[in-house]
Amino acid sequence: KTVRAHSGAAELGPYRHYMQKEIFEQPRAIADTLEGVEGITPELFGDGAYRVFKDIDRVLILACGTSYYSGSTAKYWLESIAKIPTSVEIASEYRYRDSVPDPRTLVVTISQSGETADTLAALKHARSLGMPHSLTICNVSTSAMVRECELAYITRAGVEVGVASTKAFTTQLAGLFLLTLALAQVRGHLTDEQEAQHLKAMRHLPVALQAVLALEPQVVAWAEAFARKENALFLGRGLHYPIALEGALKLKEISYIHAEAYPAGELKHGPLALVTAEMPVVTVAPNDALLEKLKSNLQEVRARGGELFVFADADTRIENGEGLHVIRMPEHYGALSPLLHVVPLQLLAYHTACARGTDVDKPRNLAKSVTVE
Ligand code: AGP
Repeated sequence: KTVRAHSGAAELGPYRHYMQKEIFEQPRAIADTLEGVEGITPELFGDGAYRVFKDIDRVLILACGTSYYSGSTAKYWLESIAKIPTSVEIASEYRYRDSVPDPRTLVVTISQSGETADTLAALKHARSLGMPHSLTICNVSTSAMVRECELAYITRAGVEVGVASTKAFTTQLAGLFLLTLALAQVRGHLTDEQEAQHLKAMRHLPVALQAVLALEPQVVAWAEAFARKENALFLGRGLHYPIALEGALKLKEISYIHAEAYPAGELKHGPLALVTAEMPVVTVAPNDALLEKLKSNLQEVRARGGELFVFADADTRIENGEGLHVIRMPEHYGALSPLLHVVPLQLLAYHTACARGTDVDKPRNLAKSVTVE
């Protein structure tokens, strides 16, 4: 398989690595992925999608790595907005376990490359169990995954060179949000007013993302501290717990710092024992319904001498203090907030890796597309 030779510096422009370039391409990638979406209709996902969407009453998402985290985020949307029962499975687990199939399932695969062996095998396994309906959110229209699936939404992130996925993740979320709205519409849970509001928010994403990218200098300052650590905890709740998971994966895979993500409410059930001044705790703190609960989780951490690094929305009342660092995001962005909150985590991982001198675009032991088991 020929891999397109990259002309290096010329393509990087003002950026140091492809990963940094791709983080900053996200406003453009989202705009391109949403281009031509005039309104919400099942036909966005291909001919015959309406009949398929009428035919199913649950969703099974299959994916790996970062794509599994975009699927985990979508579960919150699919159940709260489209009111459709949704399960999300790691493809390499699903393909070997005795699951209980339901023929009225829409099998959704998520894959940047469309060539991930585990995800392709999991799709085939689901089909062999008698679940014929499939849809993929994929970044490569000519990939095996797109050929295998009945329906598809092709993200237009462009070629993603960095092994650590960034713009593919946020464009997957955009595609998954469109799927949520299309399923909600078919199932009678989307008024014209709601459709218009969601579309307006989606169209504003490139501008909102630019505002978040402008926070880079503040994140660089945090990265200097992180580069000296060997461990880190990431906390999130609800819709932003998968974003904490993605932030931990980014840090792990390019800076080689051991990082774990937890639902913030889970800390007291064990992980709190890990918290010391040497264990930085990164917290995704959107101004949503779970914020007050999250604040008490932060108190638990500070009471034990843990150092907190909090990404708070502009309208969140959390102030800087001893052992509590805050970077302010734009105003709370509602259901699409995960697309904004992941960006500073991508930047934190990137600049921490730069400070540690690792090979950011080609981290050790990893491949861009895992086409073998
Ligand atoms: C993410 O940064 C990693 N590169 C990796 O986890 C990746 O998301 C996973 O291998 C899935 O790849 P795919 O989206 O191409 O299927």
